[in-house]
This record gives sequence, C-alpha cells and structure tokens, in this order.
Amino acid sequence: MKVGVLTGGGDCPGLNAVIRAIVRKGIDQYSFNFVGLKDGWAGLLQMQTTDLDMKAVSGILYRGGTILGSSRTNPAKSEEDLEKALENYKKLGLDALIAIGGDDTLRAANTLYNRGVNVVGVPKTIDNDLMGTDMTFGFMTAVQIVTDAIDRLHTTAESHHRVIVVEVMGRHAGWIATYAGIAGGVHMILVPEESFDIDEVCDCITSRKRMGKNYSIIVVAEGAKPADAKSFMTVSGETDEFGNVRLGGIGNALAKEIEKRTGCESRAVVLGHTQRGGTPTAFDRVLSTRYGIAAVDMVKNGDFGKMTALRGQEIIPVSLEEATATNRTLDMELFEMSKIFFG
Ligand code: F6P
Repeated sequence: MKVGVLTGGGDCPGLNAVIRAIVRKGIDQYSFNFVGLKDGWAGLLQMQTTDLDMKAVSGILYRGGTILGSSRTNPAKSEEDLEKALENYKKLGLDALIAIGGDDTLRAANTLYNRGVNVVGVPKTIDNDLMGTDMTFGFMTAVQIVTDAIDRLHTTAESHHRVIVVEVMGRHAGWIATYAGIAGGVHMILVPEESFDIDEVCDCITSRKRMGKNYSIIVVAEGAKPADAKSFMTVSGETDEFGNVRLGGIGNALAKEIEKRTGCESRAVVLGHTQRGGTPTAFDRVLSTRYGIAAVDMVKNGDFGKMTALRGQEIIPVSLEEATATNRTLDMELFEMSKIFFG
C-alpha cells in the first residue's frame, strides 16, 4: 500500500513525532510504502514529494517544526485545484493519504474524501480549537511556553512596578490564554469568547495597587476584543487562502490604554510564533505518537474520512465532517473558574 503524508497549516511541536510514529509502525507492521508531500497541500498540487522511510524519521521525535514543510495552500479553493489534487493523487499511485493539520487542512481533507480520496486526518494546532477531540497536539507545548514566559514576566514586572500585557495566539479561541493564565497565576485573562470591559481591567489594576500590589500581569488572547469594538485587531487586512485574517495588535493597544487611564507604566509582550517553535513537551510527544499510531491503523482498517481523536484517555476515530463542522471554543466553566484568581 502506498500512503502519502502531509503536514498543513501553521506548524506546531509534535508534527515530527506523528510522522515518525506513522512511518515506524506502517513499515514495521504493515509493510506500507510512504511518500512525503512537501509543504502541505502544495506538495500534492505541485507533485513535490520526498522519501519517507525509516532513515528519514530517525532522530526526529523531539524536533520542532516538520520535516515535510508546511503551507496554508488550499486545494479546495477552486474546482481546478480540486481536479489537480485528485489527478495527482492518482498519478502518484497513492492508496491513501494522511493529512496532519488543523481545521483548514482537515476541511480540505474532508472535501477530497467526498471526492473519493482515502483520507485519514490527525488533529494538530496550538489553538486547541478543533471539534471532536478533547485535545490537539501542540497545544500543551504552547501552554508550557507561555507559562514559562509569564513566570519570567512576573519578576521583571514586580521589580519595575509595571503592568505587563501578554498577547498570546489562539485565533478565535481562548484556550492558550486560559490554560497559561491559570498556570502562570496572572491577574486577569481576556479571551475572544467573552468581550471585555476596559474599565474592569483598569479597576483590577488600581485595586491591586491599593492593596500594595504594585504590578499586574494581564494575558490577552489575540482574538479578544473590548465590548465596544466592532472588529478584531488585525496586523493587516490580509487573509490567507482559507480566508483567515492575521490577528494581532490587541496587546499593544491595551497596554497603551491602561497606561493612559491608570497612570501605571505599562508594556506589551507579544509572544507570537515562539509559541509554535521548538521541542514538544513529553505530553505532546506521547499524544503525537499515539495519534500517529492510530492514524496508520485507520489506514490499515480502511477507516477513511475520519481523524484520530482523544476522548478521555482513549484515542478513537471521529468523522472529519463532525470535526470540521465548527470551531471548538473555550470551556466557559474553566474560564469562570479562572476568574476566582483575578485581581
Ligand atoms: O493556527 C495557529 C496560529 O499560530 C494561530 O494561533 C495564529 O493566529 C496563526 O496561526 C498565525 O498564522 P501565521 O503563521 O500565518 O502567521
């Protein structure tokens, strides 16, 4: 059986661990042949491939990024590209395709599945915003990176009696902000799922000051917005091939407004792509490995049109249709709990 493997969308720690698990089990136990498609769906559209054998996956478990490269190319953008993808799938002699990616990549995978491609998906994203699974791989590593940064920001903010606003990724979901905010013991968390009131943010800072606490750390998700704002803050009006805008800028805007209103010296720290870089945590290495093994088993069993998913402690197949129907927003019970520690 010849199986194509691709990684699409924004990279994240754990991609290589998934690829390694797929190839190791697929060759060892099922005698599959693998071919790597370079740079996500672009590799299929342009027939750009790379060898994917035992040698290619040796020593990559703990390496960040992806040995296959990634892109936000959308093969379902036009009928012409869809036809090209289907034609190249046949030309490459593929019997199945494993697509490792987030909502955009997996939505495209589902479209191809509906057109006859034998697809299995693996849920990847630091944003943790995919339906159908309790957790995507890469998320916990991003949370750890942000938590480590917050730990460091506490000491400098305290020394200088400053407010530090930490802007984190997550797109339209506040998972990273909430997990890292709880773990880092911050004084307020702002998420896209609940618009915030700038007066309340400033009150939190001034009441801390009254209690002799001369510094504050606020975590803001890139997709968060004040109640009176009409739209999200974006870096530019640009959108990618899937129509996603580039979010960012709320951290700086908020720090300026806080300084103006409270008189407290404020700084913004934008963690940006640091959150996606470097080695995966042990948790993500194990989750990625389990996902890779499950994906190759699903190919063996002909369980197509589905992605691997974590439900409780188990890995199960879930339909791509269900997983990509809508985005998974923050657990608001968890967010409510985090408010106990605000102030
Ligand atoms: O989806 C992952 C993610 O890192 C988001 O959190 C962020 O908004 C976006 O990708 C950034 O995209 P790019 O890598 O294209 O700048």
